[in-house]
Amino acid sequence: MRAAPALLQAAVIILATSAASFAADPPKLVEHNGRHALLVDGAPFLVLGAQINNSSSWPAVLPEVWPALEAMHANTAETPVYWEQLEPQRGKFDFSTVDTLVQGAREHHLHLVILWFGTWKNGNMHYVPEWVKTDPRKYPRMTNIAGEPIDVLSANSATNRDADKQAFTALMHHLKEIDATDHIVIMIQVENESGGIGSPRDFSPASNREFAGEVPADLLKAMGKHRGTWRDVFAGRADETFQAFYQSRYINEIAAAGKREFDIPMYCNVWLSYPVVELPERQIPNPGIGYPSGGPVQDMIDLWKAFAPAIDVIGPDIYSDESGFYREILKTYSRPDNALWIPETGSGDSYARFFFYALGQGAIGFSPFGVDRTNWTYSGTEGPKLHSENFALLAPMDREIARLNFDGKLKTSVEEPGKATQELDFGLWQVSVRFGFPQPDGRQPPGTPDHHGRALVAKLGADEFLVTGVDASVAFHVPGRLPGLRMQILRAEEGAYENGTWHMTRLWNGDQTDRGLNFRHTGSVIRIRVGTF
Ligand code: DGJ
Repeated sequence: MRAAPALLQAAVIILATSAASFAADPPKLVEHNGRHALLVDGAPFLVLGAQINNSSSWPAVLPEVWPALEAMHANTAETPVYWEQLEPQRGKFDFSTVDTLVQGAREHHLHLVILWFGTWKNGNMHYVPEWVKTDPRKYPRMTNIAGEPIDVLSANSATNRDADKQAFTALMHHLKEIDATDHIVIMIQVENESGGIGSPRDFSPASNREFAGEVPADLLKAMGKHRGTWRDVFAGRADETFQAFYQSRYINEIAAAGKREFDIPMYCNVWLSYPVVELPERQIPNPGIGYPSGGPVQDMIDLWKAFAPAIDVIGPDIYSDESGFYREILKTYSRPDNALWIPETGSGDSYARFFFYALGQGAIGFSPFGVDRTNWTYSGTEGPKLHSENFALLAPMDREIARLNFDGKLKTSVEEPGKATQELDFGLWQVSVRFGFPQPDGRQPPGTPDHHGRALVAKLGADEFLVTGVDASVAFHVPGRLPGLRMQILRAEEGAYENGTWHMTRLWNGDQTDRGLNFRHTGSVIRIRVGTF
């Protein structure tokens, strides 16, 4: 081989060094033109997540857990770390479970999202250590309007916050010690569905005095409001806003302290405010009853963004498969200042199609809940079916999908009742997606009985696309012309990505392409080049 010129050699060294330093960087979230990516080892990563059941993060149980995640083709496990286990005695830490989690994930080629079950778990305080539970004078609980303590630690107590902060920083310090170079752990969830169930705010005498006073100036400024008491300024939402203000700052301080130990992405998950289906005409939010008060529900996102800047992402837990609601939530939590990340959703088949909606909305990840086979949701060899099908399809090209989505090149189509034909607009190329088979001439596509059809199209070049789908045909055409007129398929390769390289297995033609690319069953991925004549 000829010796490379000195300049070229220097450029190669610089490129190699910067690639190495990217790979050495801890995971981080980046934003460009309102789109987001989670960088893991320096490149966008799509979280194909799977959350295990609440009591499954124990060394004795984990051997039964990992196979379920592998069977799902997940690339990331979401696993709780319990404050009560981590700090059984004040200041004495037990990292054995954390170590087992990280080691187990490594052995099973998975990344981890660690869920900190600290002050809050589902709007209660069930995971705080016994030494906190049994000392309410020191670690005060929320007080309800009747003056009674409830099953939630108070967000208005610096003692509570500092106790949680000490444990959380110990956890982050330990994670840095064991994972600073391998990046098994890619994100941290700070608390779980924070907020208070049982009261819209803390009604302790001290909180009542605060509440009777004026709204702090920084909150007024952030919310664009004028001076006044809490009730004057926030009227019917005053109690919840008060709670959210104290709670967001409490959690922010914990997250910021944790990041000082180990700076990796942190997020909060949300128990959403769901529509009141029993009384649909009374769409009144019901904080403290319908959902934990103080959490980052739909209309508290702005407040949380202002007062919890150490929280990179707010991710909705979505447990309604009503399509309109699901899509509205995806839009609400997808903002230039908030990457779309679904840390929890139903594991049933009816939720699987929403993964494609989430991808179309630019999601960095998606994670069904409760997927392990510990005789809670699933036993034996059972598991989520359609979610697994989705993950199996995308896992070999998760990096490519994340990159294309970050670059704004990816669109999806999801079947809806009465909408078996849909169009995707790629400018010079339009794409018709038609759901359900058979698709005989002269008939509209039949759709599928449970509306599970889905397709994904990503632009690779001016006339080149990556396409996949389930129970869908995908046809390219030029705007204003019918599919198949004045366009031709130059080449349709079926194949797969392997470690970033495309490998063709065969060309599709004839019946497989004549009425669009026919994705009758799951599993096929096509790279297509099209042209006009
Ligand atoms: C949402 C919580 O965040 C999870 O930990 C779990 O309790 C599920 N609900 C159960 O559906």
